[in-house]
Amino acid sequence: MLNIVIFGAPGSGKGTQSEKLAAKYGLQHVSTGEILREEIDTNTELGKLADSYMSKGELVPDCIVIDMLDCLTEKKRHVKGFIFDGFPRTVPQGVALSQMLSKYGEDVNVVISLEVEDEVLIGRLLKRGEISGRADDNRETIESRLKVYYRQTSPLKDFYREREILKEIEGVGTVEEVFRSIENEVDPFVDPIIKKEWQKQIL
Ligand code: AP5
Repeated sequence: MLNIVIFGAPGSGKGTQSEKLAAKYGLQHVSTGEILREEIDTNTELGKLADSYMSKGELVPDCIVIDMLDCLTEKKRHVKGFIFDGFPRTVPQGVALSQMLSKYGEDVNVVISLEVEDEVLIGRLLKRGEISGRADDNRETIESRLKVYYRQTSPLKDFYREREILKEIEGVGTVEEVFRSIENEVDPFVDPIIKKEWQKQIL
């Protein structure tokens, strides 16, 4: 398996780049934000609970998101690999992700952190809010999401830096330019992983 975490502040381009990565490497894209928004749209109990946090720009509690991901990775365990977009978002979620993947003899291979200045992030999200009407793309909630990112999520960079799998990428430029920088970091992992899978099949 090739397991990639795509990491960054709100609006840094995680979703945009995850879709391109999923298409190029044939990986399963897992966006916790998208899953939670679908729950809200279908008015489930989980959706109602998630909305009470997401509308304020706060994180949904770890236990809920971790259980959700545990079920999903179990269901999809035969895929070629995952792109985790928006998960993990706290150090306990980072620990839980490694534990989930260890059940299949796997771990996170590489963490791509998209680096974008706050003013650019705010501009992108306000623009998207005007076009798509996404509920949390308004100035007040964006500011709260950014505070939450710096307080609760950015400590994960040290968590992955210590494991020597963090790759910081300039997230400003065209979508294609940013993608090329990501490919340069991901490509070296692809060959060894394909060889490992091949060895597993002949043993
Ligand atoms: P989530 O959906 O993950 O939102 P987010 O992290 O705030 O990220 P966004 O989707 O806003 O931005 P992105 O980085 O994906 O960028 P995108 O590609 O869309 O989470 C929403 C909420 O759900 C959270 O606040 C939390 O409440 C909850 N949640 C989710 N996961 C959770 C977890 N694990 N634990 C607890 N709670 C959780 O791009 C943004 C815009 O910029 C787009 O319009 C795009 O077209 C544009 N753009 C992208 N790249 C470029 C570029 N290179 N140049 C110019 N524009 C660009």
